[in-house]
Amino acid sequence: MARKKIIAGNWKMNMTPSEAVELVNTLKPLVANEEADVVFCVPAIDIVPVAEACKGSNIQVGAENMYFEEKGAYTGEISPNMLVDAGVKYVILGHSERRGYFGETDADINKKMHKAFEHNLIPIMCCGESLEQREQGVTMDFIRQQVKIGFQGLTADQAKQAVIAYEPIWAIGTGKTATTEQAQEVCKGIRECIAEVYDAATAEAIRIQYGGSVNAATAADLFAQEDIDGGLVGGAALKPDFGKIVNYNK
Ligand code: 13P
Repeated sequence: MARKKIIAGNWKMNMTPSEAVELVNTLKPLVANEEADVVFCVPAIDIVPVAEACKGSNIQVGAENMYFEEKGAYTGEISPNMLVDAGVKYVILGHSERRGYFGETDADINKKMHKAFEHNLIPIMCCGESLEQREQGVTMDFIRQQVKIGFQGLTADQAKQAVIAYEPIWAIGTGKTATTEQAQEVCKGIRECIAEVYDAATAEAIRIQYGGSVNAATAADLFAQEDIDGGLVGGAALKPDFGKIVNYNK
């Protein structure tokens, strides 16, 4: 069965609750595309009003992060139950900004992956190399490690439902999109890694996105690649252009 594309916006630390509702209302008519899953991953404080504003549309709501404990004395954190109760379906885990600025490790991300599945949330697990790593020729070694540790202990059935976002750090917010060849090569390598850890059927089912300066001009070529099942979009997800990205195939 062909994999359904998944095109997700990552709003990062942008949009107040009222701005968020306005943006959803602007984008709602532009992002209809039955051939793709469309997800808006928004700041925690925007989740409730965005979920309300998305009702009756094809947009699914995602979170940008989540903690791996059920509840308790973890000031400032958000639990999986809170997300589920607010109508969240997807959660980004291990974004390079979380890893880089907030010290998240592969082991933390693995705990979060388990927690997400316990609550039927679909994780979008991010991985990706720095420019230095690419130049040193260790891109695939590094990403394989991120994927293997991130998925440790998950069943094949869980892995099949997960989404992996390949986001080279040097392409994020820089306007420097990876070439389609570079993106396809790594996404293929990630799929091979999943086949090694699990089996061919799991590798065939898992969806792998590309992220990093995706825009309306680059989306169609990227998403047409055999192993690229959509995108995780930052800056361009905050603009009407996101409609063009979602409708890359029209
Ligand atoms: P940009 O699309 O702004 O480069 O961000 C990519 C990203 O980090 C999505 O998670």
